[in-house]
Amino acid sequence: MEMNSMVKGVGRTSILISALRFIVTNNYVVAANSGKLKINSVELEESIKKYSKDVQVLEDKNEYPFVYDPYCFYYLNTPDAKLYLMETLLSVLEEPEKKDEAIKFIQESPLIVSWNKVAEYENKLDIALRTKYIDDWVLSNLHFKQMVVLGAGLDSRPRRLPLPSHMKVFELDLPHVMSFRDRILENIPLKPLSKCGIIPVSVNLLTEDWAQKLIDKGYSKDEPTLWLVEGLVMYFTEAQNDFLFRTLNSLSTKGSKQMLLTVSPKIQRFDTNYHAERPINNLGFKKYNWSSIVSEFISRHEDPMGLISKYGFSNDLKSLHANDIAKLYNSNLVSLAVTYYTTGEK
Ligand SMILES: C[S@@+](CC[C@H](N)C(=O)[O-])C[C@H]1O[C@@H](n2cnc3c(N)ncnc32)[C@H](O)[C@@H]1O
Repeated sequence: MEMNSMVKGVGRTSILISALRFIVTNNYVVAANSGKLKINSVELEESIKKYSKDVQVLEDKNEYPFVYDPYCFYYLNTPDAKLYLMETLLSVLEEPEKKDEAIKFIQESPLIVSWNKVAEYENKLDIALRTKYIDDWVLSNLHFKQMVVLGAGLDSRPRRLPLPSHMKVFELDLPHVMSFRDRILENIPLKPLSKCGIIPVSVNLLTEDWAQKLIDKGYSKDEPTLWLVEGLVMYFTEAQNDFLFRTLNSLSTKGSKQMLLTVSPKIQRFDTNYHAERPINNLGFKKYNWSSIVSEFISRHEDPMGLISKYGFSNDLKSLHANDIAKLYNSNLVSLAVTYYTTGEK
């Protein structure tokens, strides 16, 4: 059954990322509704109005770079994602004998309250910076006619960013993740802010046929491509990544660009002694320990510029640490940040 594979399998990481983006979006909407953030587009204003009607928002003293991803709420407001939230929160309940009370609390709380119990400030900030930086990279490359997102998961950039009609975006992910996502998208009451064409491609990126499947869907090898490889290669072995990058390179003509996220081998200590929060109903949840996700990272890269350069993208190389990005956006630093953002051109 799809629900289990989404909740237990690798696809669940995209639910966690969505949850962080959902919380960051909450702050965007609060800022927009209070007038602190000026909105200069009629379509965006309408979208925020619609979102505020559907979704409970919460005042939050934390500040993040402004990111608006209204799709996250709809991905999380599903039986699959709610089951995952329930399992996650129950696993960090301080006093297991309060299980029934906790279940009632989770069932009755708005999603923004419950997911906030799972997420740490730094995780939220990290994902806000990541989303904002990549958004800006995409928005600075709007002349491309095709973009490919590898391991797209629940990334909604081709819908929520104002991408032009001359652009085609191919979204690649495993079939069960694509069908989970597409089923939800069918019923989302939001108009995309983008005009681009969106082409889902259900593939396993570790099997030989993914390049051909992409071409069969209308991808052109002769057209420069904007490649986004976000939150993917850390889950693959070195040999799997070698296959992935060789294929990517063989599909890329001169002038193609790539954004690659990698995890540094110098992973910092993850604090497991989070203080429990004490909500008014006196239920205690220890903070969710994100190091369980980090422990699933198989590949860590010392030299990401060397990596993309080796596989054809050797021009205009740049690699920024998450905290370089924090400085770029005048944001607080993320002390636990492990990610590098590397761009290059073929
Ligand atoms: C951490 S999520 C990142 C999603 C999205 N790129 C983002 O950053 O928000 C990783 C995604 O990679 C996908 N993935 C993992 N292994 C894959 C494979 N062999 N083929 C295709 N997609 C895969 C997962 O299903 C998941 O959606």
